[in-house]
Amino acid sequence: MKISVVGTGYVGLVTGACFSDAGHEVMCIDNNPKKIEMLHRGEMPIYEPGLEEIVKRNVEAGRLKFSTSVKEGTEFAEVIFIAVGTPPGPGGEANMTYVEQVGREVAENMTSYRLLVEKSTVPAKTSEHLKRTVLKYLRADTDFDVASNPEFLREGTAIPDATNPDRVVVGVESKRAGDLLEEIYKPILAKGGGKFLRMNVTSAELTKHASNSFLAMKISFINAVSRICELAGADVEQVAQGMGLDPRIGPRFLKAGVGYGGSCFPKDVDAFVRLADALGNEFTLLKEVQKINKTQREHVMKKIKQELWVVQDKRIAIFGLAFKPETDDVREAPSLYFVPELQAMKAKLRAWDPIAEGKFKEIHPDLETVPDLYECAKDADLVLILTEWDAVKNIDLAKLKSVMACPVIVDGRNTFDPATVRAAGFTYHSIGRA
Ligand code: UGA
Repeated sequence: MKISVVGTGYVGLVTGACFSDAGHEVMCIDNNPKKIEMLHRGEMPIYEPGLEEIVKRNVEAGRLKFSTSVKEGTEFAEVIFIAVGTPPGPGGEANMTYVEQVGREVAENMTSYRLLVEKSTVPAKTSEHLKRTVLKYLRADTDFDVASNPEFLREGTAIPDATNPDRVVVGVESKRAGDLLEEIYKPILAKGGGKFLRMNVTSAELTKHASNSFLAMKISFINAVSRICELAGADVEQVAQGMGLDPRIGPRFLKAGVGYGGSCFPKDVDAFVRLADALGNEFTLLKEVQKINKTQREHVMKKIKQELWVVQDKRIAIFGLAFKPETDDVREAPSLYFVPELQAMKAKLRAWDPIAEGKFKEIHPDLETVPDLYECAKDADLVLILTEWDAVKNIDLAKLKSVMACPVIVDGRNTFDPATVRAAGFTYHSIGRA
C-alpha cells in the first residue's frame, strides 16, 4: 500500500521506515528542509539504533522516499499518518499548531478519499478538532476519515518495538478506515504476532494516555517505596524483584531511580490530569505521581548537598545527559534539572554523554563536556550518575578512583552493586538501598 507519514521525528521516521520494510511504499514528509536534505544524503536526523540500516535498505529498494511537501504526500497516498511534534507550551498544554497545519494542508489538497491518522501523542479529543479542521478547509467534494493509532514504541528500542508490537490499537469511525489500517499492519503482525484492536477514536486516544500514565505510576510507586526503604533499612532492588515475580505485577518499570523523563511520560501524565480536570473529575492519583517524580530529583539533590556540605567550587562529574540510554533525546531529562541547579550553587561541572551531548548543549551551551568518562571525572569531588549507559556500568572502578580528587558517587540509576563499589573504596549513595 501507499502511505504518507508527516513528521520525521522519533515516531514518524521509525514508523515510515518500518512500514516500508514491511513492503509498503512510503513517503516521509517534513517541513524542515534540513532534515529532508540529511535523509536524502542517507544521514539520520535523530539517533535510534538500527534506523539507518532500515532507511538505507528501503531507499535502495525504492520503497521509501522523502519530501518537504504535504501536498505531495496527500497526492501520493490514501492514508496519511500525522507524526509531527506536539511540544508542551508555556502553560504545559500540548501545542497543536503543527497537527492543525497538516490537517489543513491535507484538506486543501485532497481530491478523493483520504484517511488521516493521528500517530503523535495528542490530547484526547484531538480527532474531533482535526475533523473540524478538515471540514473547514476541504475544497473537493469528497469523503474522508480521521483515525487514532497511538504509538507505543520506546526510544532506544523503537525498531524492535515497531516491528514486533504487543498490540496495535486503532480508533476508527468507519469500517473503511479500520480495514485500511488492518491492511497496513497485516504484514507486521503476521511476523511479530501482536494483537490488532479496533475501537472508537476516543477510546484509542485514552488508551495511550492510560498506558503511559500507568507506567509512570509504576515508576513513581517504586520511587516512593525506595524512600521508605532508605528510612526502614531495606533494599528497593530486592523489594522490586520480590514484587515483580508476581505475574499480576510484573518486573518491568519497577526500577527505582532519579525519576522518569523523556518527551512522553511527563507530557502524557500532564495531559491526562488536564483532561480529567476539564471533565470535572480530578485525577488525584496522577497528581501524586507527578509530585513523587519531581521530589525524587530533589531527594537526589539533597544527597549531593549532604555529601558535599559546601557545593560552591566543588567539581562534579555528570555521567549521562540523555533521559535514558541509547538515545540522544534530552527532553525532560533529569540532567536539565541538575545542571542549572548545580550551576546556580556555583559547582564546577563537567559532563559526559556518548550521544546526547550535542542536543543538551543546544540548551546549555555553557556546560563543559568531554568524550571520555575518566577525563570527565578527573579531579572531581563527586560523580553524579544520571543515565545508565553501558560504558558507565562497565567502568573500571579502580581507574575511576585514581583520577578523582575524592572517591564519591551519587548514583541516580542504581548502576552498581553497593558492596562492590564500597569495596573499591568509594563513598556510594544510591536510590532506596540503605
Ligand atoms: C514511553 C513508553 O514506554 C512507550 O511505550 C511510549 O510509546 C512512549 O513513551 C511514547 O509515548 O512515545 P520512552 O519515553 O521512549 O517510552 O521511554 P521509557 O523506556 O518508557 O522510559 C521513560 C522514562 O522512565 C526514562 O526516563 C526512564 O529512565 C524511566 N524509567 C523507566 C525508570 O525510571 N524506571 C523504570 O523502571 C523504567
